[in-house]
Amino acid sequence: MRIDIITCLPKLLESPFSHSILQRAQDKGLAEVVVHDLRQWATNKQKQLDDYAYGGGAGMVMMIEPIDRCISELKKDREYDEVIYMTPDGERLEQGIANQLSLKKNIIILCGHYKGVDERVREAFVTREISIGDYVLSGGELAAAVLSDAIIRLIPGVLSDETSALTDSFQDNLLAPPVYTRPAEYKGMKVPEVLLSGHQQKIEDWRAQKSIERTKDRRPDLLEE
Ligand code: ADE
Repeated sequence: MRIDIITCLPKLLESPFSHSILQRAQDKGLAEVVVHDLRQWATNKQKQLDDYAYGGGAGMVMMIEPIDRCISELKKDREYDEVIYMTPDGERLEQGIANQLSLKKNIIILCGHYKGVDERVREAFVTREISIGDYVLSGGELAAAVLSDAIIRLIPGVLSDETSALTDSFQDNLLAPPVYTRPAEYKGMKVPEVLLSGHQQKIEDWRAQKSIERTKDRRPDLLEE
């Protein structure tokens, strides 16, 4: 899978893709993430990417031409399944969306800044608009990193234990059960006995029960779905 991220702040995206699982996925050739500096496609000497909003008001708007030039260049080399624009007024990111997108081959993610992009970018190029939650970030970069992480970890072979993405919270509309590791007792706090019993069926039953309890307690809305 290949993800092309278009941004005016490429440095913001260096670190998230250079460590741990996202780095390993790329090293193994399972995912390729290419970050494009939008300024490369600016048309004037000042490398301008944004301009005042027609009709006035505070905040700058990202111009269509550099974005058009960048996307057109990318599309010359391959077909894209989706051109995703990260924006607080997009559909809310949920596990099901990450699952769907993890099956795609080529995706472009466009990061907005300032007051966002010229509406014509959304009309002409964008196939899907995604928000990572009901709050406003200073730009789409961190949201793009969140979305990419949620997608890439689902690609078969990326996680070392093939089953571990399936046992994540939300995969079955349940939150994950509590987990423990050594020591079995710390400052008087004990690990639940059943987990030390070696009785696999009892352990699975306990985990299932804790998942349901935790979901009822914290996210009853998931059970209604
Ligand atoms: N850009 C700014 N805020 C955002 C959000 N909540 N989700 C996605 N992109 C954004």
